[in-house]
Amino acid sequence: MTALELDPAVVDVARAARRVVVFSGAGMSAESGVPTFRDAQTGLWERFDPTELATPEAWDRDSALVWAWYQWRTGLVRRVAPHAGHRAVAEWADRTRMTVVTQNVDDLHERAGSPTHTVAHLHGSLFAPRCRDCGAPFPSDGGVDVEPTGPLSPPECSSCRGQVRPGVVWFGESLPDDAWTRATAAAEDCDLMVVVGTSAMVYPAAGLPLRAARTGAAIVEINPEATGLSEHVHHTWRTTAAVGLPALVAAIGAAQ
Ligand code: OAD
Repeated sequence: MTALELDPAVVDVARAARRVVVFSGAGMSAESGVPTFRDAQTGLWERFDPTELATPEAWDRDSALVWAWYQWRTGLVRRVAPHAGHRAVAEWADRTRMTVVTQNVDDLHERAGSPTHTVAHLHGSLFAPRCRDCGAPFPSDGGVDVEPTGPLSPPECSSCRGQVRPGVVWFGESLPDDAWTRATAAAEDCDLMVVVGTSAMVYPAAGLPLRAARTGAAIVEINPEATGLSEHVHHTWRTTAAVGLPALVAAIGAAQ
């Protein structure tokens, strides 16, 4: 069912749910000022397809261009703040067993108060660079404050002098074992999955809602646009993360 207003049936389901998964994508961070993946990019990056920068082949072709793009995104994320939707998710966790499964490489859920151990980052983190050769973690410098006007050389690993790469998952790479194990366990054990701000096009992450539905969970989508998932979920609410999540969490509280 698609609705423009909060459906009372969604409030009932959310109020009854004891184990909740919030499954978020780039749209979750959009109202904080982080562009979604498939939106048009601005400035330097309008000449590049962002999905073409997120591959091992892109790194091999031009690591300094890819590093500059991630340094720009890291700095941008550092400068923005979580919004009311992120805070509502953190607040909801006080009342239920909550797992946040996110495709986002930002830290906005955590900065809004979601405890780190409840957040599974399926696609890694902008703030966890590591050596491409030996895998040693490399301290994040927080990215750059201004948009780079050209490529930036990646740093050298302090252990093996290899090349440091962003700590994110690129197309064609495996998801981090720990995050994926936690995400699938939570999806298969939840009463409710709220899918927020994802186009649900990138697998295996995009398969999690149907995995949850198969084990009996109600699936609610919050997204201003239709997605490939919309017709398979129990409820779709055509609203944004910063509007929908606080309204839903407030309605649950009011109904208790
Ligand atoms: P996309 O950019 O594909 O989709 C963003 C979704 O958010 C769209 O469905 C929008 O309609 C929706 N949206 C936009 N603004 C919103 C708002 N304010 N509130 C709620 N929803 C909003 O982003 P993802 O689905 O997250 O992977 O993309 C998945 C993966 O593709 C990313 O994690 C990244 C990317 O390539 C890797 O880098 C491996």
